Amino acid sequence: MRSIYAGELREAHIGQEVQLAGWVHRRRDHGGVVFIEVRDREGFVQVVFEPDNQNVFSVAEHLRNEFVVSLKGVVRARPAGQANTNLKTGAVEVVGTELTILARSEPLPFQLDEHQHVSEEVRLKYRYLDLRRPEMNEKMRFRTRVAQSIRRYLDDQGFLDIETPMLTRATPEGARDYLVPSRTHKGHFFALPQSPQLFKQLLMMSGFDRYYQIVRCFRDEDLRADRQPEFTQIDIETSFLNEEQIMSIMEGMVHTLWKDLLGIDLGAMPRMTYAEAMRRFGSDKPDLRIPLEFVDIKDLVASVDFKVFAEHANNPKSRVTVLRLPKGGELLSRKQIDDYAEFVKIYGAKGLAYVKVNDRAAGMDGLQSPILKFLPAEVVESILVRVGAETGDILFFGADKAKIVSDALGALRLKIGHDLNLYTGAWAPLWVVDFPMFEEDDDRLYAMHHPFTAPKVDSIDQLKADMGGAVARAYDMVLNGCEIGGGSVRIHRTDMQSQVFEILGIGEEEAREKFGFLLDALKLGCPPHGGLAFGLDRLVMLMTGSHSIRDVIAFPKTQTAACPLTNAPGEASADALKELGIISVKPLGEKH
Ligand code: AMO
Ligand code: AMP
Repeated sequence: MRSIYAGELREAHIGQEVQLAGWVHRRRDHGGVVFIEVRDREGFVQVVFEPDNQNVFSVAEHLRNEFVVSLKGVVRARPAGQANTNLKTGAVEVVGTELTILARSEPLPFQLDEHQHVSEEVRLKYRYLDLRRPEMNEKMRFRTRVAQSIRRYLDDQGFLDIETPMLTRATPEGARDYLVPSRTHKGHFFALPQSPQLFKQLLMMSGFDRYYQIVRCFRDEDLRADRQPEFTQIDIETSFLNEEQIMSIMEGMVHTLWKDLLGIDLGAMPRMTYAEAMRRFGSDKPDLRIPLEFVDIKDLVASVDFKVFAEHANNPKSRVTVLRLPKGGELLSRKQIDDYAEFVKIYGAKGLAYVKVNDRAAGMDGLQSPILKFLPAEVVESILVRVGAETGDILFFGADKAKIVSDALGALRLKIGHDLNLYTGAWAPLWVVDFPMFEEDDDRLYAMHHPFTAPKVDSIDQLKADMGGAVARAYDMVLNGCEIGGGSVRIHRTDMQSQVFEILGIGEEEAREKFGFLLDALKLGCPPHGGLAFGLDRLVMLMTGSHSIRDVIAFPKTQTAACPLTNAPGEASADALKELGIISVKPLGEKH
């Protein structure tokens, strides 16, 4: 039915007879001639049906948008002055000589070229139509090429592609599990993998040495633009390599990817410790394209009258920090400043004190701020000196629990960078290293990465001596403020693994029940090993300049983790539930 893709036709084909198959993208009647654009996965070409070929013309007159057609025709140059330079096929057109309508289409629920007015719910309900749009088509094809480049690189580096189970036990990656009931073991459930973490470690114990898998992972967690309940990891594990070697192979992979697909040299990938990233940017995934940094001033405001500052300056769990926006006093209106004060409240901040530096040389008289009356002149001066304030600047202040200040001013930094377009370049990759082993919440310790991550110290005694300060052999790759990948060197000794479980409040019995197979395997010849996983969706999102990973996944879920196309999740029939030994507490048929 087809000799060439419509989107591939060029001047070189002039004079050739071709057979095309595709969709009627647009139809125009002009001076007794029918013009259509035929669309296929490679693009469009203009096809002309002239009235002197009566048989074909009479069929062409019945064409409507999105009909599926097969046609024969001859390629010719477009008449002088009518070439369309926006279209790859714009120098040519096809004069139709035969035409068959393969399928008709009712009018579409939305126009394919007016997608901006279509709600996402509707786009997802008719995703197969949405995917016809050239923009979506491009993204899906780009995604294929990303996966190809990655496979090529990893194959060249000697990695083996090995599949791991989808029906398995819980893998703790910090989210809730999607559970699948077992019919043959009533009352028991499989969990869909949050990642193949434990299996890939076991594969190292089997001796495969270098493993990778482009694999679906499932996490029932709050969704955001860069999170989906099912998403794809490029999952990697290696044996006998230290973190430097692992990071170097992975850097090579990402550099090759950018070179292959975008023709861009991503450049050096600096390392930054977690502590430095938090101190300077309030984030463990800093967007280094934005040239704004935090300056801590706790020591300067410990005894001022402004209660909020003084209180937090004297609280070891708090932070008092300045974000200086050069020329911000001139750039921002009063309304924008008020809007930013509202914005930081989303992150729990109670306010956003500011100082406008109207004239740096004029001392206190050159400043404008609602908090000046609470601060002695010498304190203000020392703050101005520390942050390097200059005429025209605005300084934003955050005083609160460290996490609130980091989150609030960190988000403000990103927002200002975006609002004022302060980006200094297109790509800013880095490694964040030296993550803490544990984070504290409600007086309990949690694994910052996952419980299989090795600490930097070798001995259990050293680990126990300073659990709060313990540093993990973990690393994240961050690009433009997005965590694109993360991993660690793993614990490969049973005693250390048991100890880490204990610190995390996972008792011996629970550890046995959940991870006994891992603890056993660690005793039976486990090589030192480590790896990481990249988010494929996030990589493609960044490389295609998309706003959400939903735009680079063929059939994504909505914000509420549902699929408007298939109406999943759906109810199970009473029979199915009975067979599974499950009683639903929600009466069947009731909407939630
Ligand atoms: P982690 O949980 O950091 O590590 O995940 C690795 C990468 O997967 C991507 N990612 C997601 N992408 C889309 N939607 C989600 N819900 C989502 N969650 C994670 C991110 C992230 O950097 N087993 C470890 C890896 C290891 O230690 O080797 C793991 O899964 O880009
Ligand atoms: P108030 O005395 O509460 O009116 O606050 C004076 C100024 O300090 C206002 O601009 C508030 O937005 C700001 N402010 C209040 N609490 C904080 C805080 N925790 N961190 C930063 N600024 C604050």
